[in-house]
Amino acid sequence: MKITLILLAVVFCSATATGQKFDKLALTPPMGWNSWNKFGCDVNEALIRETADAMVASRMKDAGYQYVVIDDCWHGARDNLGFIQPDPTRFPSGMKALADYVHSKGLKFGIYSDAGAKTCGGRPGSRGREYQDALTYAQWGVDYLKYDWCNTDGLKAEGAYATMRDALFASGRPIVFSLCEWGNNKPWEWAKNVGHLWRTTGDIYNCFDCVKDHGTWKSWGVLQILDMQKDLRTHAGPDHWNDPDMMEVGNGMSANEDRAHFSLWAMLAAPLMTGNDLRKMSKETQAILTNEAVIAVNQDPLGIQGLKYATRENLEIWFKPMQGGDWAVCFLNRGDKPQRVEFDWRNEPVKDDFAKRELNAKGGAYEILDLWTKNKSGTTNESFKTTVPARDVVVLRLQAKR
Ligand code: GLA
Repeated sequence: MKITLILLAVVFCSATATGQKFDKLALTPPMGWNSWNKFGCDVNEALIRETADAMVASRMKDAGYQYVVIDDCWHGARDNLGFIQPDPTRFPSGMKALADYVHSKGLKFGIYSDAGAKTCGGRPGSRGREYQDALTYAQWGVDYLKYDWCNTDGLKAEGAYATMRDALFASGRPIVFSLCEWGNNKPWEWAKNVGHLWRTTGDIYNCFDCVKDHGTWKSWGVLQILDMQKDLRTHAGPDHWNDPDMMEVGNGMSANEDRAHFSLWAMLAAPLMTGNDLRKMSKETQAILTNEAVIAVNQDPLGIQGLKYATRENLEIWFKPMQGGDWAVCFLNRGDKPQRVEFDWRNEPVKDDFAKRELNAKGGAYEILDLWTKNKSGTTNESFKTTVPARDVVVLRLQAKR
């Protein structure tokens, strides 16, 4: 009896240590929509259905957006067997019906929980109920789980997230696992085999360059989050992405700031989770979010996160190696005045030691395509001259000779 118990313990422990996630669910950064940035706790089934409709009608789906994710506050109470129920007034038809609806549009359905006793919004968390919840999500037809980190006193992040990873795997349904512990426990060092993406920072705030102080915590503007991505790029790649948080495009920043925000998330190979009201977005917002050439930078199959090559006054110059020997280049003007650029490709030693790639402008010209104006802008045989407007970007694709 004793030996059997010891054997069982050994088998159980080794299974936990070697547990696995569902592979290959996010070979390129996930793209979709999440309710939180715009709607906070104000979620209901009509909003989710209408958002799924709008994702199709606005051609977002055609551009690659796929996941419709309900963030915090969808929860009701647990039933007397402990199974979580959706809030019956907000989701009267239940989650299975909602998932079926989203699937009927050719989209995927995502949901939110928390590793602690309660979510950040005070709803029931999954602590101690991980396997039960994972099974419930699988039965509902969930394809994506965002898993938060509020109210986790006494828990260790690596273990808590591994438990939910194992629970999801045991449910048998492939579910993308999105870790959200705000970078506190350096998930980039341990989460490659736990989840498909992990937040690297605290929450984004809807501004380009500011910090919002909430007293006990802060949220961060686009540039602040960008700066926090320093040194993280070597940890990301296909099926395991750094997540600098969901986007605020269309939530009130100016069009140039939104364009810069979107381009930078593309350069960072970040998950492209939109956070605006898709039912009511302006043509301008829609054009930004569906720029397929910029999306192609984000979705490049090599999955290499971009690197900051240089800072020159208010200008930052980012490079991202892409398949076929191409490069994406982003000139970011962080400042409040237009900035003149003159960039001689042949005299710039652009080298990516991590990806083992080098820009070879001396060995042969790359054709230059401007991904926002769609203009052809010559080749790398001549200096590139442009002016980047305040708080804006110029994004290029350098096309290698095929
Ligand atoms: C945390 C997360 C946010 C959002 C809220 C919901 O702050 O970081 O992205 O999910 O919780 O309460």
